[in-house]
Amino acid sequence: LKTYMATNEPVLDYAPGSGERMALEDALRSYEGKMTEVPVIVGDDQHFTDEFRYQLCPADHQRQVAKYHFATKELIQKAIDISQKVRPAWEKKPLEERAEIFLKTADLMSTKYRADMNATSMIGQGKTIIQAEIDSACELIDFLRFNVQFAMDMAKYQPVCTPTDTNYLSFRGCEGFWAAITPFNFTAIGGHLPSAPAFMGNTVLWKPAGTAVLSNYTFYKILREAGLPPGVINFLPSSGPVFGETITSSPHLAGINFTGSVETYQRVTAMVTKNLHLYRTFPRLIGECGGKNFHLVHPSADITQVVYHTIRAAFEYSGQKCSACSRLYVPHSLWLQIKDMFVEEYKKIKLGSPLEFDSFLSAVIDKASFQNIKSYLDYAKENPNLNIVVGGVCDDSKGWFVEPTIIETSDPKDKLMQEEIFGPVLTVYVYPDKKWEETLHLVDTTSPFALTGAIFAQDQSVIEGAQWALRQASGNFYVNVKCTGSVVGQQPFGGARLSGTNDKAGGPQYLARFCSPQAVKVST
Ligand code: SER
Repeated sequence: LKTYMATNEPVLDYAPGSGERMALEDALRSYEGKMTEVPVIVGDDQHFTDEFRYQLCPADHQRQVAKYHFATKELIQKAIDISQKVRPAWEKKPLEERAEIFLKTADLMSTKYRADMNATSMIGQGKTIIQAEIDSACELIDFLRFNVQFAMDMAKYQPVCTPTDTNYLSFRGCEGFWAAITPFNFTAIGGHLPSAPAFMGNTVLWKPAGTAVLSNYTFYKILREAGLPPGVINFLPSSGPVFGETITSSPHLAGINFTGSVETYQRVTAMVTKNLHLYRTFPRLIGECGGKNFHLVHPSADITQVVYHTIRAAFEYSGQKCSACSRLYVPHSLWLQIKDMFVEEYKKIKLGSPLEFDSFLSAVIDKASFQNIKSYLDYAKENPNLNIVVGGVCDDSKGWFVEPTIIETSDPKDKLMQEEIFGPVLTVYVYPDKKWEETLHLVDTTSPFALTGAIFAQDQSVIEGAQWALRQASGNFYVNVKCTGSVVGQQPFGGARLSGTNDKAGGPQYLARFCSPQAVKVST
């Protein structure tokens, strides 16, 4: 293991008749007419509490895919107690032994459970097959495998010894428990946020999103099958406020690994700050929040490239990736051509059920999201500064379907250029060709987020200039390629400003957040 080198899991193509396609179809069939009951899991015990919710299929909201139980305050407290009890034995396990468990999990996902992971993300989270495959299979497998390599590399760094002193660093876990609060939009993030601290020797309380609970529970069971001891990760679907209040009022809180909305992250941070006097150690906070990600087109750009990548960045998974492109800056000289090409490309995009394998995108996650996106589209329809180029129709009669929509604005500071919508809505500002520098400034200052962004240009000096001008405008910067789809080990992911603490999941520095190293000097 000391020389373990991770490689990225290949993305399978699910061609009709292929083995992976047949396995997936079988898995999808096995969920037809079935509602999975999801318990709270504390230590080794399953709890079917009196309070429960349903996870609905976004493309067919009459279909209940899971009934999941809510952890009570007492159960969350019990999970804290158990996590404290099991921590010493888990922490004492050599890193190699912990690594074996997560590598085995990755192998099980790559083979035996790949179809199950994808099927549960498709029916529960509205992912088309390709979007499920790159997320619930490949990205999560990659996180598990690359973390092993990163940890082994980190452990190799040892301080200098002298003739009289032996010095070394022991990469301890943190004292206390970690909490993982995870989102619906990536099954990979759901699985990674509790797994990374656990792998580094911590114990974890995991609160999955209700809208992703089926795929997250599927992953949890694989972890346990791979040998994760009970109590190391406790699975706690629950109400946000109850979970938040219980963990932040425990003296044993070691850290929170969070992905979700800015408002929730701010609330969690405020709760920790309010309770600072309670804690045995300063809790570490990792937050990945939203984005208002840009594609910036220079007059020298290849427009075929612009259209291909922008359609994908804006509309894949209905714009519900934190990295999705939702503002586009186009020079006046290229706009008419690009607009025509958008209209043509648009005709090829199918909005439909994820179970129809040719759908490009499907319904948005739930009713609240549908209504929120619809309110932005209603605003666009009423506002004279805004012109809907394509799309704009919402229909929730069967599922929460929102047409992919492109809106042109004459106001670069319109709220559609500033606010995160988390839906398939792309707003375009057409800038005068001569105002390149001003446009760079607009890109940098219009939104409070800084997650991802891309520039499209063929002129190298323009690219370099933009890279410098926009150095704080995104945590992930792309040149002539879409601003979504970071790959573990290739583009460590995260942003600053209101997008989060930029701890770069999928990169070598990430795991340091879950260690509290002890430096030891032994004198001879
Ligand atoms: N890998 C995803 C993306 O870049 C985020 O986790 O879209």
